[in-house]
Amino acid sequence: MAKKFYILTFGCQMNEYDSEVLESILASDGYIMTDKPEDADLAVINTCSVRQKAESRAMARIGQIAALKKDMPALKVIVAGCMAKRAGQAIIDDLPGVDYVVGPDYIPEIPDIIASTDSERVYIDEKAEATGLARGINPGRVTGFLAITKGCENYCSYCIVPYVRGSMRSRPSKSIIAELKILQDMGAKDITLLGQNVNSYRDDSLDFPSLLQRIAPDSPSRLRFLTSHPKDMSDELIACFAELPSLCQSLHLPLQAGSDKILEVMNRGYTSGHYLGLINKLRQAAPNISLTTDLIVGFPGETDDDFEQTLKLVKEIKYDSAFMFRYSVRPGTKAAELDDDVPEAEKIDRLNRLIAVQQEISSEQNTRWIGRSLEVLIEKRSRREPFWPQGKTRGGQSVLIKNNDQLNAGDLIMVEIESSKAKTLFGLFEKFA
Ligand code: SAH
Ligand code: SF4
Ligand code: F3S
Repeated sequence: MAKKFYILTFGCQMNEYDSEVLESILASDGYIMTDKPEDADLAVINTCSVRQKAESRAMARIGQIAALKKDMPALKVIVAGCMAKRAGQAIIDDLPGVDYVVGPDYIPEIPDIIASTDSERVYIDEKAEATGLARGINPGRVTGFLAITKGCENYCSYCIVPYVRGSMRSRPSKSIIAELKILQDMGAKDITLLGQNVNSYRDDSLDFPSLLQRIAPDSPSRLRFLTSHPKDMSDELIACFAELPSLCQSLHLPLQAGSDKILEVMNRGYTSGHYLGLINKLRQAAPNISLTTDLIVGFPGETDDDFEQTLKLVKEIKYDSAFMFRYSVRPGTKAAELDDDVPEAEKIDRLNRLIAVQQEISSEQNTRWIGRSLEVLIEKRSRREPFWPQGKTRGGQSVLIKNNDQLNAGDLIMVEIESSKAKTLFGLFEKFA
């Protein structure tokens, strides 16, 4: 009987990508995926370390899965990803039911590790090359991720990522182009190039805007990238939004904080003025561009006044949406040496105020599409009644189609937008695009 595997993924799109790569390798080895660890021969938990909460949630789940071994001694339990790299052997010491601890660079080797009889239990060193992620099979999605870099060397003072993902390594453009083809052959119509900071991509003389120019003509009709760093957002990259028809007019540009004092201690390498200048240039190059961001409240030393500056900038920029977080101390980072002096209750209060402001802006921003005809790529059916077909615009907005039940994942259509909420647009099918 075929062996079964279960994968649980925490964290960012990089982790989702690594899990997809592992899925594809296991599937080509004859494994079948299951969504129940109780049915599995192999359970992989791909973890995130970015905030303490992410680690605590993963540890609780790993404990439950490792406990299954009492009745299923043959089950192999693997803790993979960023927390594996950070905590290493300590995970096995805490939870002896865990068989192997595997950092992000070793995820594609999991099948070899479990097949070998003389494997170590901890694999967390850094690998020099950024290759090894090219996959044979894609799990068959309309959208696809493609990692173009690994690691990060920006060392924002609050962030654990450079320590768990290692130094920044760019994949050769040839292997990126080869994987783009594989994804397209598998039916992916909307592809996101991934990296902790894609703007610092470099393959010999090829920088990120040149990579985009090279691959855009052969990409599917929708190409995106994630994440960009404001300090490396060049005029050439901004021009790509106006010049490359397949590049979606949508950008995630983390601001983190509105106060220059806080940005400096965060080691972000830009001021609020520089950031605003970028937003103006982007909106000049692409007037309808959708903008999203990440924000942290309660960083050490953040006063009421500093926080007000974040609110002010958020109101001025009017993002389409934002991911908003309370500062969480990460051991080993520079900021961990600072006094975590904003009381928890104050952090929660600031976060709630920020979320309320952004929620209103998101609702307001979404009304700008009403009455317009937008291209939508159908991805699935809505999980709520009446289960309308659901898709995304080029800007990344989620759309529910109210008048056509026959649509399938992968259909590219034109939709007249009738109404909107903060997170969703509602519209009527017009025609196939
Ligand atoms: N490479 C990306 C993503 C990094 S992690 C980037 O540079 O934007 C995603 C987000 O988590 C960050 O943008 C930041 O807003 C948040 N984050 C990172 N470390 C954090 C911490 N210690 N506490 C709270 N939020 C954090
Ligand atoms: Fe972390 Fe900064 Fe690197 Fe993003 S750019 S992963 S926030 S260190
Ligand atoms: Fe988390 Fe690792 Fe991504 S720490 S945010 S899964 S790079």
